[in-house]
Amino acid sequence: MSQTRDLPSEQGYYTSKVVQLATVAALGGFLFGFDTAVINGAVDAMRDDFGMGAGLTGFTVSSALLGCMAGAYGAGRLADRWGRLRVMFLASALFTISALGSGLAFGPVDMILWRVVGGLGVGAASVIAPAYIAEISPAAIRGRMGSLQQLAIVSGIFVALLSDYAIATAAGGSANELWLGLEAWRWMFITEVVPAVAYGLLATTIPESPRYLMHLDEEEKARNILRQVLKGGVDERIKEIRRTILRDRHTSLSDLRAPKGWFLPIVWIGIALSVFQQFVGINVIFYYSTTLWRAVGFTEEDALQQTVITSVTNIVVTVVAIALIDRIGRRRLLTIGSAGMFLSLGTMAVIFSQAPLTTNPDGSTSPVLEGAAGPAALVAANLFVVFFGMSWGPAVWVLLGEMFNNRIRGTALGVAAAAQWAANFLISTTFPSMAAVGLWFAYGFYTLAALASLFFVLKFVPETKGRELEDME
Ligand code: GLC
Repeated sequence: MSQTRDLPSEQGYYTSKVVQLATVAALGGFLFGFDTAVINGAVDAMRDDFGMGAGLTGFTVSSALLGCMAGAYGAGRLADRWGRLRVMFLASALFTISALGSGLAFGPVDMILWRVVGGLGVGAASVIAPAYIAEISPAAIRGRMGSLQQLAIVSGIFVALLSDYAIATAAGGSANELWLGLEAWRWMFITEVVPAVAYGLLATTIPESPRYLMHLDEEEKARNILRQVLKGGVDERIKEIRRTILRDRHTSLSDLRAPKGWFLPIVWIGIALSVFQQFVGINVIFYYSTTLWRAVGFTEEDALQQTVITSVTNIVVTVVAIALIDRIGRRRLLTIGSAGMFLSLGTMAVIFSQAPLTTNPDGSTSPVLEGAAGPAALVAANLFVVFFGMSWGPAVWVLLGEMFNNRIRGTALGVAAAAQWAANFLISTTFPSMAAVGLWFAYGFYTLAALASLFFVLKFVPETKGRELEDME
């Protein structure tokens, strides 16, 4: 393939050690997925136990996303000050504290606090995994290694779903039942202690990022680590990194500023990638799937089954992305993804707009999908997950890890990821009101976002496949 022609030799270029290092860092993604999804199975029982109304329940769920935003922004800057590894330890501690706190919460107030603490961990993990993986990986396989984070995220979502289901089943079928002395929903949160502690322990087995060490002038250490992941060309790499870093100085927001205007163009591109990734409505499928599928006439059991199917689909297609991303590149993957999402989301919007409405007991209305419309909506929703999962899901995280230069990476990545969490918050909190106008309206909006994302990629997104981080100027 053309991108490896200028490399020493693709076969001998990198060692298998890099896969081990990237996998440990990607575990942060597993906790990201687990923590954001675990609340699904617990939320109704928690609401009943605490006697919470709809508004407070909604805020308890979405408050975590505000924590994610702050965690991402803070972790980006801390990663440039403290190094990549220390931020991993911090994230592991936040996950552990939040799991115990949420599981043993006394009431809504401390519950919200623990969800925010967990959110800080998720936000931090969402920044530190792409940064570390990009900085440790040889250019030829950096996309594949970076996509391991998305594989971990979607696996985390799936395992949380399974774990919630298994705990409720063990407790006799309901999250409100007592099991081993505590309500089942509490165990759903406490379970997260296991992957959280494992992540922290495994992070002690990997070295600091060589690019970060060069900022500290620790050239010998950086060289030793590069020797573990590259089979040759270490001296040239060191020379190149030295050319592109700021020694003994930390970046701050002012380094992201353009001479005229707020941010450098590349920072805006990162922010826009993040926002589009959320504006196509992927998390509506994951956060509200049961509501969605019940609204269009599925029974509760079928709705759960459907949720499991979309989660597994998402895992499988991430593997497709891993196979393709370093071959066809990020831009082409995103282009295919946008076009496919536009068509599948558009199909859903049209189906929902054509369906007759039924009035629910609470006065709201839902579309009734008759005949072929039900299966067609199901197929379209799964095709949407397929197109997202093979493109925008992993590729945005890969790009955010690699598109910024060595001087601004941590801070810029923190800003872009914070924007992503803000966009996630906006889309997931507005979905119920948009759906109240009509599901066609919500899906019409996501369809337009997918169309806009296509033009955005074609016009603004640079191809980073096979390029060294030192060339991202
Ligand atoms: C990406 C998104 C995340 C979403 C996940 C689902 O990682 O950033 O918000 O939940 O994909 O596949």
